[in-house]
Amino acid sequence: MEHTSRIFIAGHRGLVGGAISRGLERQGYTNLLFRTRAELDLMNGPAVERFFAAERPEYVFLAAAKVGGILANNSYPADFIRDNLEIQTNVIDAAYRSGVERLLFLGSSCIYPKLCPQPIKEEYLLTGPLEPTNRAYALAKIAGIEMCWSYNRQYGTRFLAAMPTNLYGPGDNFDLNKSHVLPALIRKAAEAKAAGEKKITVWGTGTPRRELLYSDDLAEACIFLMNLPDAQFQTLLNSEEPPLINIGTGHDLSIRELAELVCRVIGFSGALEFDTTKPDGTPQKLMDSSRIHALGWRAQTTLEEGIRRTYEWAKDSLVLTPA
Ligand SMILES: NC(=O)c1ccc[n+]([C@@H]2O[C@H](COP(=O)([O-])OP(=O)(O)OC[C@H]3O[C@@H](n4cnc5c(N)ncnc54)[C@H](OP(=O)(O)O)[C@@H]3O)[C@@H](O)[C@H]2O)c1
Repeated sequence: MEHTSRIFIAGHRGLVGGAISRGLERQGYTNLLFRTRAELDLMNGPAVERFFAAERPEYVFLAAAKVGGILANNSYPADFIRDNLEIQTNVIDAAYRSGVERLLFLGSSCIYPKLCPQPIKEEYLLTGPLEPTNRAYALAKIAGIEMCWSYNRQYGTRFLAAMPTNLYGPGDNFDLNKSHVLPALIRKAAEAKAAGEKKITVWGTGTPRRELLYSDDLAEACIFLMNLPDAQFQTLLNSEEPPLINIGTGHDLSIRELAELVCRVIGFSGALEFDTTKPDGTPQKLMDSSRIHALGWRAQTTLEEGIRRTYEWAKDSLVLTPA
């Protein structure tokens, strides 16, 4: 990408799209294209087509999607499969028709089979049953990857899917009914500290292991991939396997270790209580990121530093202030 290339970031107000937009601005890219959903509903095919024809983006980061936790995925599967299929179909097809140079489609570690061997390699996609609670979402995303692959083979496009591990960072969701494990722990520890309580309750046994990636690190990885020299980029798009690349840190830790780290960063010195009546989920989730590591990218933000920055953002944004 040149610093003046026309770059469309779809979903620029989300956790991922926001981080990519900030990363591009930080690195001096000046010709960024943003549209809010009110300005351009990506489910509206003709409107998407007109936008691409008029603006002619050269590079596209496709980070717009309908995303949610287990409850939302389980309650509204029709919305998850319809919205995601429509958004990605409209954007991928319009990108092809308008001659976009490269497109990066955001997939996710949660679309690999439920009981994958660990660490999860790219080749495990479509090798086993999916997690039932987010099947509709996962199948839509898998269709998006298949679409990138099909367009590459039939039309010679250069569309790649990035598969990030669990993310966290500024802009995350701190609503305890919808949030992932890390923002939930930050909220509980911050509230317990403010209220002078003696303990916080953590769901499950504390033994499952998780990998966490700071959203700005993911953004750097996405920009790094978009800027790979042609020969290297092309190795990710061979016709033998789907165009996929995992993005993670290569390290995991237990929920107990994570909770202890959060308490240390926030300065809450009370006890941890584990509610073992709550489900643990899968025992381990760790990506094999050797492919992107071999290309020369590694995450730079330590978990402690990432938690500190996320906590500072949440405090300043008042998302941790009870209503
Ligand atoms: N968060 C994670 O832990 C994680 C991990 C791995 C992969 N990912 C992937 O990264 C991608 C983005 O996730 P995220 O966490 O950044 O989600 P997010 O914070 O909910 O952001 C999604 C963005 O998409 C926009 N959007 C949704 N429907 C749209 C439509 N019809 N037209 C225009 N814009 C629309 C939303 O706009 P509004 O603000 O108007 O709703 C929002 O800005 C997803 O594909 C997800 O699978 C996320």
